[in-house]
Amino acid sequence: MKGYIFACTNKTEQECFERMLFSTNKLYADNILQVRKGDLLFLFNMDRDILHGIFKAKSEGRKDIMPDAWRGRYPYQVKVEKEDGAKAIKDAKKILSQLGINWRNILNDEQLNSLLNYIQKPTEFDWNSVKRGNGKEIEEKPSLETTTLWDYPKQSYGKTPKGNNKYAGVTPAFIIYNMIKRYTERGDLVVDPMAGSGTTFDVCKEEGRKCICYDIAPTRPEVIQNDARKIPLSNESVDMVFIDSPYGDNIRYNDHPDNIGGISAETEEFYDELEKAMKECYRILKPGKALGWLIGDQWVKKKFTPVGFKIYERLCKYFEPVDIICVTRRNQASNTPLWQNRALRFNFFLRGFKYLLLVRKPILESTASSKREVKWTHYKR
Ligand SMILES: C[S@@+](CC[C@H](N)C(=O)[O-])C[C@H]1O[C@@H](n2cnc3c(N)ncnc32)[C@H](O)[C@@H]1O
Repeated sequence: MKGYIFACTNKTEQECFERMLFSTNKLYADNILQVRKGDLLFLFNMDRDILHGIFKAKSEGRKDIMPDAWRGRYPYQVKVEKEDGAKAIKDAKKILSQLGINWRNILNDEQLNSLLNYIQKPTEFDWNSVKRGNGKEIEEKPSLETTTLWDYPKQSYGKTPKGNNKYAGVTPAFIIYNMIKRYTERGDLVVDPMAGSGTTFDVCKEEGRKCICYDIAPTRPEVIQNDARKIPLSNESVDMVFIDSPYGDNIRYNDHPDNIGGISAETEEFYDELEKAMKECYRILKPGKALGWLIGDQWVKKKFTPVGFKIYERLCKYFEPVDIICVTRRNQASNTPLWQNRALRFNFFLRGFKYLLLVRKPILESTASSKREVKWTHYKR
């Protein structure tokens, strides 16, 4: 038996109780789809900071049990029934944090037991029984980002490695996790045309996404040898593309003659070759689906090259802009006292971030009737 916390607001709470249905949007779909009959559930009213409990799942977590509920805004749902002696906890945020619980994650056994004990007899609760490691489970999955500044102290998360953190230029797994959570659903197909050590493959596998990874010089069997300028997939067959391309010729990935990482970002050739890969990404993506391109600027021998801007300009020849995320660059070889000193003496800056350029394939008028699965919100001005 597992424990889950669902969120609601003052606006949505009543409908939860009237329908005896808890629900969520796509961001938390992966958790909700794991709910089985008999699991224990709680409802957290974020406006009033109250946690209602205890409820039992009367159905499995599914999409669209009641499609018209909340006007279709929270389609991942589970039917619930009230357990005897249901109670509510005030100051829920504080109590949950003291119990080592992040309400966005599935509760582990210790967390569920602590919460059950607390909710039943709050005044008699033995706080010494809260294990120090209660929060551990929380770290197994990254948080979902809400701003355009992402900063990760390490390359990977969880119990199994994601990619190889010894691979030069390996991508922080958190970036790919955040992208697939926002832009794909379980079973969707994700493609990484320049996959290096296969970080995208490992993240997708763990999150139930199908994944095809290519690289010009593969380092493991799950990565297929292929040039990103000609991807062997049919038109409009892919749900998301992630690509962490070379940023110029700053890293020597391999000696393959078609390695774009051998071309300087100071030349137009570099952008022309990457544009060929962009066109392929455009071709294989379904309309309305997202592409994330990770890239950094260059400052070499007194010359600054705005690689990120140049790449975004090329991307926007084909795609619609969605956003630009800044990802902190950590563990840079140049982040040493010697280089910091040089940066001050010779009046230049060390690279502090890279860009995650987010774009989407436009939906053409002629195909607009086809079902759009990534929900892009437009607020009225
Ligand atoms: C920044 S690394 C990717 C890192 C990867 N995401 C990871 O986490 O390990 C860029 C990759 O692009 C690959 N590459 C360069 N030119 C390529 C091409 N023409 N086609 C496919 N891959 C290419 C390189 O071999 C290198 O592995």
